This record gives sequence, structure tokens and C-alpha cells, in this order.
Amino acid sequence: MSQSFAGQVAIVTGAGSGMGRAHAMRMAAEGAIAVIQDIDAHGLAETEELIRAEGGAEGGNVAAYAFDISDVPSIDRMAADVLARFGRVDILVNNAGIGVDRVIEDIDQAAFDKMIGVHVKGSFFCGRAVVPAMKRQGRGRIVNVSSRWAQAGHHMASDYIAAKGAILGLTKAWAKELAPFGITVNAIAPGGVWSRMVLENLGEEGVRREEREVPLGRWAQPEEIAATVAFLASDEAAFITGQVISPNGGKTIVGF
Ligand SMILES: NC(=O)c1ccc[n+]([C@@H]2O[C@H](COP(=O)([O-])OP(=O)(O)OC[C@H]3O[C@@H](n4cnc5c(N)ncnc54)[C@H](O)[C@@H]3O)[C@@H](O)[C@H]2O)c1
Repeated sequence: MSQSFAGQVAIVTGAGSGMGRAHAMRMAAEGAIAVIQDIDAHGLAETEELIRAEGGAEGGNVAAYAFDISDVPSIDRMAADVLARFGRVDILVNNAGIGVDRVIEDIDQAAFDKMIGVHVKGSFFCGRAVVPAMKRQGRGRIVNVSSRWAQAGHHMASDYIAAKGAILGLTKAWAKELAPFGITVNAIAPGGVWSRMVLENLGEEGVRREEREVPLGRWAQPEEIAATVAFLASDEAAFITGQVISPNGGKTIVGF
């Protein structure tokens, strides 16, 4: 694998499983120092071990932070620690997320606040914590994780979709605000991806049923989405900002 991220520091939130783990492993394999964050300390330790075992981060270039991403002081502590240890932040992937399929009547204030807290507050304040360093460097890459549902809607999970829609707005606003500083900001809006979150919601049978609705006939593996994120984080994507890329197997062609 090429060493596109050699010498760079990449923060990936929600890196204890699924796509976040795949993003972190991909960036480490391409030479980055992987800064991994998750609320799930056990999953995070597994990701750390996997990165060390792959040797992509030469056994030392991984740093793990276990905390709830909606806790702003913890985000600021992580950013300060990363800067003290490594001196820079090149890439931020705002990936941490929760997904619960429920109808409007089942979404109470606490559930709504949690959804917005993890996705919107977490993404916003992670960006806020790293932007000063990126500005000083004159370069940065932020990739926010939205969802195909934010583009197409869905018959439930409106709190999730509201949060993912806000992430699209954040992406466009930051893209314009930060472009003069050499910082690009893009979003991905994945379609169905095999992960713990969807298996908890739908079960394997449910996912297999959904796969039949996708033109390419399947859902993605996390590593396929990591390839899209790695592209957006790379120098190859230097002229792309404020965009939303939806790796979804062709689903939005028929589902929009
Ligand atoms: N799987 C899909 O089909 C799909 C589709 C579109 C978008 N997404 C989005 O992709 C992202 C990754 O999800 P995934 O499918 O890999 O699921 P996943 O459950 O495997 O990963 C989500 C990770 O976020 C972590 N997390 C949850 N709450 C957190 C918090 N408060 N603080 C820090 N970390 C927290 C979880 O512990 C987990 O490791 C999410 O933002 C999700 O909404 C997923």
C-alpha cells in the first residue's frame, strides 16, 4: 500500500468497530499516526492491537482515547494531548455514531438529545478543536460521516436523519469558511454497510433482505468505505471540498 499519509496525524472518532476501525487501519497502513477514539474502550483496544499487529503504524504510531464524543471537555483534552505528543493534526474523520430505527412517537427528548449530541455536537466540537492547528499548518482534511438517508429520507429514524442532515450543512459551511486556509471539508453519505450498528437493528436476515434492493445486489464492507475516505483525505482530492460522496451500490438512483 502506498504511504500517502506518511508523517501525518489522523484522528478517527468511533474507531472501536465498523467503518471507524477500517478508516483508522487504512490510514495507519498508509503511514499515518492513527489517533483513535471511541466510547467503547474494549473495541478501541482491539483496534489498537490490530493496527499494531499490521505494523502499519510501526508498533508505536497509534494513540487511543476512550470517552463519549458528546463530551466537549474530553474532546478538547484529546486535541491538546495529540498536539503535545505529535505536534500536528492533518486529518479528522468524524465517524462516531449511533443508529436506532424508531418511529417519531418513540423518540423522546433524551433520545433526541443523545442523537444530536453524538453526531452533531461531537462532529462540531472535534472540528473546532483541530481547526486552529490545521490553520497554522495551512492544510487539513476533514471528512464528516453522514448517511444516504439524509439525502433520501426513510420511513423511520427521523432523529438520526436530522442529525445526519445537520452534518451535511456543517460540511458545506466549514468548506467555505476553511477553504482560504487550505482545509478541505467533505462528507460521505454511505448506503448500507455491514457493521455492528445495522446488525443490532436489522439482524443478518434483515440486512440480506435490504441487500436485494441495492442495484449492485449487496451492502458494502467497511473497508470499501474506508477507500473513499482515504481518497478524500489524500492529496489526490486537493480540489474537492464541500462535496457529498455517497458510496451506496447505486441505491439512491432508484431510491431518491
Ligand atoms: N452501517 C451503515 O449502513 C451506515 C450507513 C450510513 C452511515 N453510517 C454511519 O457510519 C458511522 C459508523 O457506523 P458503523 O456502521 O461503522 O457502526 P458501528 O456501530 O460499528 O460503529 C460506530 C462506532 O461509534 C462508537 N460510538 C457510539 N457512540 C459513541 C459516543 N458517544 N462516543 C464515541 N464513540 C461512540 C461505537 O462504540 C462504535 O464503535 C456512523 O456515524 C453511522 O451513523 C452507517
